Amino acid sequence: MATSKQWFQRAKKVIPGGVNSPVRACNGVGGTPVYFKSGNGAKVQTEEGAELVDFCGSWGPLILGHARAEVVEAVAKAAADGLSFGANTAKETEFAELVCSLIPGVEMLRLVSSGTEAVMTAIRLARGYTGRRKILKFDGCYHGHTDSMLVASGSGLLTGGISSSAGVSPRITEEVFVAPYNNLAAVQEILKANGDEIAAVIVEPIAGNMGLVEPAEGFLEGLRAATADCGALLIFDEVITGFRLGPTTYGTLANITPDLTTLGKIIGGGMPIGAIGGSTQIMSYLAPLGPVYQAGTLSGNPVALAAGMKTLELLRDENPYPKMNELGKQLATGINQIAEKKELALHCAQHGGMFTPFFRKKAIHNLADSKACDQKAHARYFHHMLNAGFYTPPSGFEVAFISAAHTEKQIAAFLKAFEEW
Ligand SMILES: Cc1ncc(COP(=O)(O)O)c(C=O)c1O
Repeated sequence: MATSKQWFQRAKKVIPGGVNSPVRACNGVGGTPVYFKSGNGAKVQTEEGAELVDFCGSWGPLILGHARAEVVEAVAKAAADGLSFGANTAKETEFAELVCSLIPGVEMLRLVSSGTEAVMTAIRLARGYTGRRKILKFDGCYHGHTDSMLVASGSGLLTGGISSSAGVSPRITEEVFVAPYNNLAAVQEILKANGDEIAAVIVEPIAGNMGLVEPAEGFLEGLRAATADCGALLIFDEVITGFRLGPTTYGTLANITPDLTTLGKIIGGGMPIGAIGGSTQIMSYLAPLGPVYQAGTLSGNPVALAAGMKTLELLRDENPYPKMNELGKQLATGINQIAEKKELALHCAQHGGMFTPFFRKKAIHNLADSKACDQKAHARYFHHMLNAGFYTPPSGFEVAFISAAHTEKQIAAFLKAFEEW
């Protein structure tokens, strides 16, 4: 039996860095990445045969846990009926009808194959619809790896951002303004000077890519009002938060309707998917109805849709959200109590089934706060919990997830292990 270490050595010879997505290299915590072999419910089995309770959940999609029987059955049936057609299927319409019925303000949906693609399309659609070029985004929000979203804050608010990756044209960074998350005054300053050039403001309505950061009171409402004022579209990137906190989007739960919503992760139930939704008026700008081109060989793939549809139906019918919220509360309260008792410099942020232990006492409102956390302490926590049988995200800038398959007993065991840290 080959170990994770042996697999990683082999992988590094044929896959850049040995991984197909950088965070999996575990550079944030050090050590060798764990190789997963199988998963069932809240648990995964490693190549070494160890069993871990998984709090990563494939970075969000597995809200029902690994290999939920009804989802696997739906996938197997769809696969047996044909893996892909590149032509229309009834399932695509049923899926769009279901999603539109669950998200007020989403009258039409276009399916793609990843969250990155969904955001890329939403940005192009916003530019095509408004006839404007520029975009405003927030430092610490991640929107996938399309060029215009790989821009971080530069030297000044009004000068456009700087590329956070080699290979992104400086031309593109000039078109993207970057504001600190939760800083409405900065947004207003940028919009005052450039409002008539801005096609869209894009935001994670609850940020999940600098750890879990809540929107400050009035922040999202302020963005809604400011974008409406200057004629820019407001895009809520709900690739993480869509169907995570209720059988709908966070925008719906917060009673704020963006112009466009991007979705991914949960709506595919573990299969590759992404989606862009909005009003008929805006969505009609997409080809073939309108002038904004977008396409995809595997878009609306029947196997991915089978997984996504079954997942959404189960979420709607079983409503596991109160349970996930309760487990999340138990976990975060437990961590915070232990931190208090042992005088540890950390606190745990939590919203529903999402949580992040931040390794400093002070609350986190933006990327600068998150960067001020002790990443070495996070790495020690990660390895301690891993050795105790709990898999958490291997980066201090991520959200951990509790699924409907987790149990109170597992949360209690997690806390017991944490207390021994
Ligand atoms: C908020 C958000 N948007 C977009 C993406 C990109 O999605 P994908 O990895 O499916 O391309 C992610 C991925 O984590 C995300 O968290």
